[in-house]
Amino acid sequence: MDEKKLIKEKLPKHIAIIMDGNGRWAKKRSLARIMGHRKGMEVVREVVRTCHELDLEVLSLYAFSSENWQRPRSEVKALMTLLKRYLRSEIAELHKNNIKMNAIGDLKRLPEDVVSLVHEAIEKTKDNKGMVLNVALSYSGRGEIIRAVTEIGQKILTHQVQPSAIDETMLSQYLDTAGLPDPDLLIRTSGELRVSNFLLWQIAYTEMYVTDVLWPDFKKEDLYNALDDYQKRKRRFGLTDEQIRSN
Ligand code: IPE
Ligand code: IPE
Ligand code: MG
Repeated sequence: MDEKKLIKEKLPKHIAIIMDGNGRWAKKRSLARIMGHRKGMEVVREVVRTCHELDLEVLSLYAFSSENWQRPRSEVKALMTLLKRYLRSEIAELHKNNIKMNAIGDLKRLPEDVVSLVHEAIEKTKDNKGMVLNVALSYSGRGEIIRAVTEIGQKILTHQVQPSAIDETMLSQYLDTAGLPDPDLLIRTSGELRVSNFLLWQIAYTEMYVTDVLWPDFKKEDLYNALDDYQKRKRRFGLTDEQIRSN
C-alpha cells in the first residue's frame, strides 16, 4: 500500500494501537523477551513519526497494562527502564514536532523516577498544538471506569452532582481520556482477536484492524495497509445505509 493512495479527508482522527507480540518476536529468534521490547521501542519511534507526518490528531499507544504488573519482576523492571530511556531520548524530538504528550492509567503505581519523567514530558509539551501522543501506562479500561465512577460518587455525596445528571458526556469527562475524541481505528498486532482491557468505554464504535505482523516487525507500510482498510469501511453507527448516504 502506497501512502499516496490514502485519501487525506478520510483518515482517522484518532488511532489506538495495542502493540503486541514483542515476546514472540524475540522467541522466534531465540532472544530474551526484552530484546523484543527493545526492538518494539524503535518501532514506536517510527510510528509516532509517521502519524505526526499524517497529521493525526491523537495516537494512543497501549504500552503497559495493569495486568502486565503480574509479569516476572525482571521483565517489568526492564520495561520500566526502556520506558525511561524512551522518554529521555524522545522528549526533545516530540516537543520539536509540536507533539503534546498525555498519559492515561493508574500512574501512581509506576516507579517514582518513571512518573517524574512522564510528568516532565507532559509539562514540557503541554502547550503544543500538534498531535497528542497518548500513552497508556499501568492502564486498564475497567480500572479507569471504576476511578471515574468513584469520583462521581464522591461528588454525589457532597451534592456537587445529581445522579440524574449522569450521562455519556459526563462520564467521558471523568475518564483519563477526557477531552480526547474516541478512537476511529484500533489496531492490534500479532493476531490476537481481543481488546485486553484497552479503552473499553471509548471503543464503542471504533473500527478494529488486526494484523498477524508482530509489533517489532510493524512497518510504515503496515500502518498504511491498516489505514487503507479503514478507508474502505462503512461506519454506520447503528443507522441504515440509506440514512448514511443521505447525511
Ligand atoms: C507487548 O508484547 C508488549 C507488552 C505487553 C508490554 P508482549 O510482551 O505481550 O509479547 P507477546 O504477546 O508475549 O509476544
Ligand atoms: C496487551 O498485551 C497490553 C499491551 C500491549 C501493553 P498483552 O500481551 O498483555 O495482552 P494479552 O495478555 O495477550 O491479552
Ligand atoms: Mg502479548
